[in-house]
Amino acid sequence: MRVPALVGAVLAHVIIGSASPVASAAVQRDNQKHDLASIFSLAAVDPSVEDNGLLSNAVGAILNGVTGGKHRSDDQTVEEAWETIQVAVDGKTNLLDIVVSLALALPGDILNLLNGYLDFELNSVDNKNAPLTKTSIYPSKAEGDAPYSVSEEDLRTAIYIPETFQYGKNGKKPVILVPGTAVPGGLTWYYSFGKLADAVPEADVVWLNIPGASLADVQVNAEYVAYAINYISAVSDTNVAVLSWSQGGLNIQWSFKYWPSTRDVVDDFIAISPDFRGTVVADAACPLLSGIYCTPALFQQRYETTFIEVLRADGGDSAYVPTTTLYSSFDEIVQPQSGENASAILNDARGVGVTNNHAQTVCAGQPGGGVYLHEGMLYNPLSWALAADALRHDGPGDVSRIDTERVCADIIAPQLGVDDLLGSEGLLLVAVAEQMVFDQKPFKEGPIASYAHDQ
Ligand SMILES: *[C@@H]1O[C@H](CO)[C@@H](O)[C@H](O)[C@H]1NC(C)=O
Repeated sequence: MRVPALVGAVLAHVIIGSASPVASAAVQRDNQKHDLASIFSLAAVDPSVEDNGLLSNAVGAILNGVTGGKHRSDDQTVEEAWETIQVAVDGKTNLLDIVVSLALALPGDILNLLNGYLDFELNSVDNKNAPLTKTSIYPSKAEGDAPYSVSEEDLRTAIYIPETFQYGKNGKKPVILVPGTAVPGGLTWYYSFGKLADAVPEADVVWLNIPGASLADVQVNAEYVAYAINYISAVSDTNVAVLSWSQGGLNIQWSFKYWPSTRDVVDDFIAISPDFRGTVVADAACPLLSGIYCTPALFQQRYETTFIEVLRADGGDSAYVPTTTLYSSFDEIVQPQSGENASAILNDARGVGVTNNHAQTVCAGQPGGGVYLHEGMLYNPLSWALAADALRHDGPGDVSRIDTERVCADIIAPQLGVDDLLGSEGLLLVAVAEQMVFDQKPFKEGPIASYAHDQ
């Protein structure tokens, strides 16, 4: 296996730094053009986007894929696809270089789907979910819950409930999937935990499509989580589990802290590549007072920001429900992500049960402990084995109950295919596009909500 020279903050600085150029007038004016190639085309001629010339190559690769001029994902084995990605990112120190390499390396079927992501029905923020009639969870479910700033209608319509969802009947366990920064929910989960029932038949997923792809205020994003937990548990008459990627972990932990009613109805919290301490990677892109590249959520996710400090205070750095975290040293977005200060680690002051699972420790020397990036943990076999273990037992996922020799021998979870590996890596293209079109680029971290101040 090739180890790319993606060492921590250097790559990461470049990733977030040039991933979020100022949303220029040109990009914003035309962001109704609903595809990835159009967004990149506009950025390619935008002088405010650093190294924009590279993007023309990405556009060419995407259009070639869309018109059927490229191979398909099923033309290669998992090993070949893994090697393709490792080579594509190897030694790259510029985000746009990586994006262009990925666009050139990804097969046509993946590029075609990514290109049309803005019209992807699975990403809808306007879902027709019935208002609650028997119970009331808005403006608050219980005393002690924080007030919402978002309307109930908007909170409810952001929840995507697949037609097959069984509302807790027939032994099904609702699992709410919460996306991360810059990738819409439906697309995020399409190539990974949207298929959770293939591994855990009793798991029944819904997901959140947080508006603005979670690039706005993390505290507001958390409102969507708090509401969804109380809504899905109410319509299902059963407890739920929550599973997150990246910022989704912060959204969930914040919702547990400030909407205590949510804790009572969640049996498991499974956090993939979370950043409970923020990330030093975002510091480079969001220097104080000059963070013109940052969106509100990126600012808040700098290392130990006020937001992070407030979250972690008064036991917010400890789990509120049984919690299973999964993370990788080679995370290019969240650092540090190894050792005692890994951003993914939660403590267990309340004794509710926490396991913090570092892929390179649990799967040391095996394929499953290899060079997994931030998005790679979505298909990592240990992530899937421990998510399944957590859902099947009381308390968090426990490596002592799984056959790590067997689990770690795989590159991807056995329920997934080549397209899932490649599609999950391709999320990076969408993340860049979303940051380009997001028009709120503040110069400093936003204020802490008054309910959090008051505590
Ligand atoms: C973790 O952070 C603490 C406090 O900042 C520091 O003293 C310690 O050296 C860090 N540990 C590692 C392994 O970096």
